[in-house]
Amino acid sequence: MNDFPSDFLWGAATSAYQVEGNNTNADWWHWELKNPRITASGNACLHYQKYKEDFDIAKQLNHNCHRFSIEWSRVNPQPEKFSDQQIQHYYDCVSYLRTLNIEPIITLHHFTNPLWFSQQGGWNCSDSVRYYLLYVEKILQALAEKVRYWVTINEPMVYVYYAFIAGRWPPQQRSVIKANKVLSNLIKAHIKAYEFIHNYYRQKKLPSPLVSIAHNMVAFVPCNNNLRNKFMSAFRHYMFNLKILNELVGRKKLDFLGLNYYTRHLIDVQSWSIKEWLNNQCAQGHNTLEKNSMGWEIYPQGLLNILLSLKRYNLPIIILENGICTLDDRQRWRYIYNHLKQVSEAIKRAVPVKGYLYWSLIDNFEWDYGFEPRFGLCAVDYSSYQRTIRESAYAYARICKTGLLIDEAG
Ligand code: BGC
Repeated sequence: MNDFPSDFLWGAATSAYQVEGNNTNADWWHWELKNPRITASGNACLHYQKYKEDFDIAKQLNHNCHRFSIEWSRVNPQPEKFSDQQIQHYYDCVSYLRTLNIEPIITLHHFTNPLWFSQQGGWNCSDSVRYYLLYVEKILQALAEKVRYWVTINEPMVYVYYAFIAGRWPPQQRSVIKANKVLSNLIKAHIKAYEFIHNYYRQKKLPSPLVSIAHNMVAFVPCNNNLRNKFMSAFRHYMFNLKILNELVGRKKLDFLGLNYYTRHLIDVQSWSIKEWLNNQCAQGHNTLEKNSMGWEIYPQGLLNILLSLKRYNLPIIILENGICTLDDRQRWRYIYNHLKQVSEAIKRAVPVKGYLYWSLIDNFEWDYGFEPRFGLCAVDYSSYQRTIRESAYAYARICKTGLLIDEAG
């Protein structure tokens, strides 16, 4: 018997701002301009121009689905003004994937916002949901006939954490009150978009859409048997991983669970004081697992544990992101293989995993880390924009083709 079902979704993901280049109407772009010490995204990978070449590569690698995002700030460069030309571009992307027989999975919001939206208060402002829905409506009118899978918001918890608690990403706030407001608006936006998309498909008599968020989950592991650490790991698992799912599943606003998984956090809390509660990682040097080039620990076992913890929701699961940044392509292959092994184990244990998408199809702009982290199945030369398919990509392609867990990276 195959390790993966024959209708399994196999692919890779990207996001607009990280690959397209020249998203000059996005808030992140203006943040880069104001902060010369931050690497500017510039041309990124020129994917906007080279999307056909990139989708051809996905085809060559036996991918049967592809996740990418629409850049809201391109389509909606000013309040209530939409660009037909940019919408046409995304229509062309989807159409091209369809001609290749690759299922598109569309993300509507992946961290960046139109500049005007941020200037009006962004997700902290009460009009945010209304603005987002106007954009969603436009996209639906153009793409609904060609798209079944929608991801409304990428990683709401991560966005809120980096932009409104850690103060690292624009608008660089550090406020629990704002963070709560933003999270609640993102959840509202998802719910409204979910309802809107379903109504739209019903009215147009289109086959039922599949709508979700992409939810980043971390394996929180206590550093030792200390009660505080055990408690804090369970608390974070609940707050960061489960709470939002409990709410959205409870309200029946997810058709599948979109999971992004990368790493574990080793929890070692020194006291019960409130400031320790957001402190993420053990600082005593116990995080000794192999790491990616950004220092994240590699912990495939965590993926199985998380998948098992999702069984309770009784919904199909699609892994929308899992990947490693590394200069060592053999390490990339080990990462993919070892995580897929856990996925196949989860399937054996009756967890309904329906797809796996590697992050990312091509090397790209890794936010405030710039271009150094190399996540791609495909290398990008940032002077010529030439793509080179890595060996790990071919090894992954063999699994995509056969549904068999074959380890032959060479
Ligand atoms: C994000 C991507 C990012 C990746 C690697 C995910 O949390 O969705 O945009 O590139 O992690 O850091």
